[in-house]
Amino acid sequence: MIIAVDGPVAAGKGTLAKRIAAKYGYTYLDTGALYRAVGLFMLRHKQDPSDHALAAAAARNVHEISLDDPDLRKEETGNAASVVAVNNDVRAALLDYQRSVAKHRDGAVLDGRDIGTVVCPNADVKLFVTASSEERAHRRLAELVAKGETTSYEAVLKDLEERDARDRSRTSAPLAKADDAHLLDTTKLDIEAALEAACRIIDASKG
Ligand code: CDP
Repeated sequence: MIIAVDGPVAAGKGTLAKRIAAKYGYTYLDTGALYRAVGLFMLRHKQDPSDHALAAAAARNVHEISLDDPDLRKEETGNAASVVAVNNDVRAALLDYQRSVAKHRDGAVLDGRDIGTVVCPNADVKLFVTASSEERAHRRLAELVAKGETTSYEAVLKDLEERDARDRSRTSAPLAKADDAHLLDTTKLDIEAALEAACRIIDASKG
């Protein structure tokens, strides 16, 4: 069983995908963390994330960054991630690993931008999770403040809209809802309600 969870910045994909994986006993992969690790690698080596060859080399050395590194969650790292994510060679370098996790025998939940469209086009269930930009900015601001980052609602909203625009307009695996994905708008749903809605879709697909 493969479950693909895609959507824009801070739509709640990660929390939802983790809860789905825990409920059904499936393995979970946050594919955004891989792109964040490439971005962080470049920031730490003082390299420009838009440099094609350097970003491709960073993607091949990404194991240098632990996926538990707290700096991965910084706003600056998210922005660098979306810059390296336009790079075809970066995406190609990360593809095999994502597909190998998807094949986990107990089932897998992957969250990202292109899981239902490119990484796992044959996923059993596809969810496209979204929420209004304002609600997403409030959620991301609360997360960043809780981690001690100093920022403002306006700065978070601006970053989020820029990042979404970059993710949607790139030519390589842009952020998009797969035709067969279920749209889940969580603007007015808390995590429990979103999980309930997702489980209804998953259970229905199991027949
Ligand atoms: O958690 P948040 O929604 O801020 O983003 P993320 O899932 O951690 O992803 C960070 C960035 O990585 C995104 O803005 C995308 O540019 C890129 N990404 C991607 O291109 N493809 C994926 N499958 C996952 C993330």
